[in-house]
Amino acid sequence: MKHNGFFITLEGVEGAGKTTQIHRLAEALDGDVLVTREPGGTPVSEQVRDIFLSEPTMAATTELLLIAAARAQHVTELILPNLNSGKIVLCDRFSDATIAYQGYRKGIDLKLIEQVNRIATGGLVPDITFILDLPPEIGLQRKRDSDEPLTRLELETLESHKKVREGYLAVAKAEPQRVKLINAQLDVDTIHQHLVNETKKRMQLL
Ligand code: TMP
Repeated sequence: MKHNGFFITLEGVEGAGKTTQIHRLAEALDGDVLVTREPGGTPVSEQVRDIFLSEPTMAATTELLLIAAARAQHVTELILPNLNSGKIVLCDRFSDATIAYQGYRKGIDLKLIEQVNRIATGGLVPDITFILDLPPEIGLQRKRDSDEPLTRLELETLESHKKVREGYLAVAKAEPQRVKLINAQLDVDTIHQHLVNETKKRMQLL
């Protein structure tokens, strides 16, 4: 899908450090930058996020369709209008998360995920995606050490989180042009520098 902006997404297992990095990257980039997240980013999508994260049990298909509904609203109301006006949009998780979480973790057929993603995004694909990779046991420990209450997904088994990581690694392998795998065990400043360099290279600013 053609637009006038630049669309960056950050992905990774729980506790990989996306949120810190996304705000630092936004500060480092010149120009008009919008930072947003999934599920979320618009009033409808944030309400869906609350349902998605707070209900203790949820069927796999329900997860997929809720995420898709939140994404459809987010793309239509916020992401596309901003890209069309020439902004850089930085999004904390997007369609690759659905492959990792609803595909690899929940076992939903990847072809079906692709179809649903296409409906929800209208064909919008990130210009660059960073996957912050680390063993889930480290990420989960970081989450447990923080003051934030754990979500139902963060409380799932290590096995479940290992499947999420496997999904992200498969995405990185399948699309090396778009997707950059970053070692999230590096220190925060080094990761930040990688993100800035790769983004500028891709934006042909260097
Ligand atoms: P966050 O905590 O990184 O903001 O993400 C919220 C949770 O939503 C996280 O546990 C991953 C999950 N999620 C999915 O399961 N599928 C998706 O497509 C997205 C975007 C998020």
